[in-house]
Amino acid sequence: MSRCKVRAHANIALSKYWGKSDLALNLPAVPSVSMTLDGLVTETEVRFDTRLRTDRVFLDGRRASAAERQRVVEVLDQVRSAAGHLQRAEVRSANHFPTAAGLASSASGFAALAAAATRAAELDWDDKRVSALARQASASAARSVFGGFVELPAGKPGQASLAARPLHDERYWDLRIVVAETAKGPKKVGSTAGMERSRRTSPYYEAWVAAAPKLSAQVKRGLKLRDLPLLGAAMEQSTLAFHACAMASAPGILYFQPATLAALATVRDLRDRRGVEVFATMDAGPHVKALCHVDDVGRVRRALTRTEGVIATGVSAPGPGVEILEWD
Ligand code: DP6
Repeated sequence: MSRCKVRAHANIALSKYWGKSDLALNLPAVPSVSMTLDGLVTETEVRFDTRLRTDRVFLDGRRASAAERQRVVEVLDQVRSAAGHLQRAEVRSANHFPTAAGLASSASGFAALAAAATRAAELDWDDKRVSALARQASASAARSVFGGFVELPAGKPGQASLAARPLHDERYWDLRIVVAETAKGPKKVGSTAGMERSRRTSPYYEAWVAAAPKLSAQVKRGLKLRDLPLLGAAMEQSTLAFHACAMASAPGILYFQPATLAALATVRDLRDRRGVEVFATMDAGPHVKALCHVDDVGRVRRALTRTEGVIATGVSAPGPGVEILEWD
């Protein structure tokens, strides 16, 4: 019997992953670059126990649904097969996300699960292998294994070992992300289904896949030079290009709400008329995430809070990678 409890943080893609090159191995068709966020935390405990006859999965204190459980069991099965044993596990996972976050938890959740399960099974894996395991469950989770600024390269079909890699740690650059929550409730089309529909039906899919590597490279260059306008221009183009690709799917996938566009207009107004270095990005949902310097965070937050339709705002700094809390 052995047990491990870990903490992982959510991340926001500065250049986006949208589309898979290998569905079975869950490999991204494009490179992405992210910032791991402090404050948005998942804590997960995995305990392998010879007495258990089946895997038991609890999310925020309730029993996981069949679909949620299945994704967890797939990760556990890989760990069992690598460890060469068949012990069942009890998994308890809890999210500590401020209600204003408006963010999904699959990235931090699967990063935490991969890290806790491999250690509980006494596998001596480095972060790279843990990241590759997390990636198979959810590609954005591969990035949450590491802190600060992180890259997940595109994968070639069959490349089972593809993992994220850290670019700069969380102390590298004191940026902030202001999240403007613009709607309540779960997203209408999940990212896995949305990107597959885009790949199969969007006439803009090939153009997106062709354009994405350059945008990712510009985000990396902006990071390297600590040049926010350079980074931010590519970040906004990346999000708008992936949304355009999704919108052109059949049927069209529209994540934006009226308040999304209002918040985007606020960000552009701050930038164009008031000279604030602030840039926006949206994921597979309606919320707007604004990236700015720490000194501008008060101004950006106030402007977004006042924007019509914005329900709440929250602020995140660059955060650390997976942390081991307990292990015995
Ligand atoms: C729009 O990582 O949730 O947030 O690999 O199918 O689980 P799966 O998808 P997921 O997709 C995230 C998409 C995105 C952009 C990003 O985070 O890069």
